[in-house]
Amino acid sequence: MVHKKIAVLIGSLRRESYNRKMALNLIELAPESLKLEILEIGQLPMYNQDLEENPPREWVEFRQHLKDSDGVIFITPEYNRSIPGALKNAIDVGSRPLQDNAWAGKPGAVISVSMGSLGAFGANHHLRQSLVTVNVPVMPQPEAYIGGAAKLFDENGKLNESTREFVKKFILSYADWVDHLRS
Ligand code: FNR
Repeated sequence: MVHKKIAVLIGSLRRESYNRKMALNLIELAPESLKLEILEIGQLPMYNQDLEENPPREWVEFRQHLKDSDGVIFITPEYNRSIPGALKNAIDVGSRPLQDNAWAGKPGAVISVSMGSLGAFGANHHLRQSLVTVNVPVMPQPEAYIGGAAKLFDENGKLNESTREFVKKFILSYADWVDHLRS
């Protein structure tokens, strides 16, 4: 079977991040047709157009990893009703040089995870706004606003049964979304 390579970007840099735990559960629940791999963003120097003359190695590697991917999944918390700066920086880095936007056409999906009850709805939709600009077609349904994150995982980071069921449906829908756009 040919596996589709999917980059998973996590908006939080925190060691014990609930969003990272969600990413690890998602990777485990993904169907065989998808090979999910976390693409780290914390090492990327802040975007500065002046650096494009001789781009930092971290930018070059990040852009290449995106180009080699068949799709992108974002898992993010909400910081002050938007996405964390680290994630916005990663989007900016991947989007340039303009004629070589590494995101272009990659089937996308968004999961937002927060401790509060709103499931980081604001971050989820701010992110979608940037993804339109960088030409990532984002799966519209199912939407994934995961609230109450502090109660979802056991001591080994495993998701509770009902959320696992939802996440499984989500990733199967995403597999269909990738097939639909890539065929
Ligand atoms: C937050 N948090 C937060 N939560 C939320 O639902 N809406 C918000 O606007 C914010 N704003 C915010 C700003 C900053 C600077 C921090 C550090 C935190 C809380 C946030 O959702 C919570 O810390 C999550 O646990 C962060 O995700 P990780 O690190 O667990 O993946």
